[in-house]
Amino acid sequence: MDQEKMGKFIAQLRTEYGYTQKDIGDMLGISDNSVSKWERGINAPDISTLTTLSKIFKVSVQEILNGERKFKKKEIDKEHHKKVLEVSNLYKSFGKRKILQNINFDIYEGDIVGLIGPNGAGKTTLIKTILNLYKADSGNVKICGFDTKKNLEEALSKIGCIIENPDMYQNLSGRRNLQITSLINNLKDKDYINSMIKFVKLEDRIDDKVKKYSLGMKQRLGLANALIKKPKLLILDEPTNGLDPLGIKELREILKKISREENMSILISSHILSEVENICDRILIIDDGKINSEFGIEEVKYKNISLEEEFFSKTNKKDEQV
Ligand SMILES: Nc1ncnc2c1ncn2[C@@H]1O[C@H](COP(=O)(O)OP(=O)(O)OP(=O)(O)O)[C@@H](O)[C@H]1O
Ligand SMILES: [Mg+2]
Repeated sequence: MDQEKMGKFIAQLRTEYGYTQKDIGDMLGISDNSVSKWERGINAPDISTLTTLSKIFKVSVQEILNGERKFKKKEIDKEHHKKVLEVSNLYKSFGKRKILQNINFDIYEGDIVGLIGPNGAGKTTLIKTILNLYKADSGNVKICGFDTKKNLEEALSKIGCIIENPDMYQNLSGRRNLQITSLINNLKDKDYINSMIKFVKLEDRIDDKVKKYSLGMKQRLGLANALIKKPKLLILDEPTNGLDPLGIKELREILKKISREENMSILISSHILSEVENICDRILIIDDGKINSEFGIEEVKYKNISLEEEFFSKTNKKDEQV
């Protein structure tokens, strides 16, 4: 780490963008004294902190290290660092079997987070517990600041999700399904439905009954349905299941676009590590009901290894299916 360049980066944030050392420290959960040391070139952050910094200020780690000035003022926004999901001390068991054990993590606005782990690790259980479809034994979930124990309705109103298969009325058309979701959620913007239909490329088939759709079409309709609420957080459990390579590519592009344009956060569980690597900013590895590591994708790139290599080194499950 070039401490001098790091110092220049911090100095630039302070002098040109008006952040104090305390602001930067608060965002990272460290003391302003540490930030001050970085600025003076006495010390430097570790790669994990550097990754968080790069995320907050929307520059790559390399740009920070190279002392490049590629970011623009309007892109830097303290609001970006708002938490849309806070999971703390979450436990869930089925009968005597402990499934989730002390799960802690946060998702920030605009972040795309990949949840990966072996079969049976607890991904779907975690997602369902966050959504209150399963009752947690203990622990807390906050969505956009709303505690699901106290304000479940407000909390869930901020989330769009697809878990397993999208739940649709099979005998109604795709359009009618979307209209119903819109009605239930008291949304008045009719044009938005049309823009979502276009967005997921279902214009040609939207007036057919859902039962006539292929799996990929159902997935795309499910996505449009989840997006209609303009959620702050989109949760997708293995969304590429059953999609062909083109479908996977299109989904990736849609998710990246919507996250960028709407500053929407996405939590996505998947077994396709190359896809996760391609789309996600941060990774959570869950193994045996525990989060065994959390890191920014930049960290993997920085180490010059693939996510698959990182995954196997963290889970020791070299010969099993991911
Ligand atoms: N409703 C349930 N009742 C009892 N046990 C359950 C239930 N749902 C899940 N489990 C158990 O919880 C553990 C975690 O399952 P979960 O479905 O969360 O795994 P997963 O990480 O989503 O796996 P996969 O990659 O196969 O989808 C498994 O041992 C599973 O058998
Ligand atoms: Mg699952």
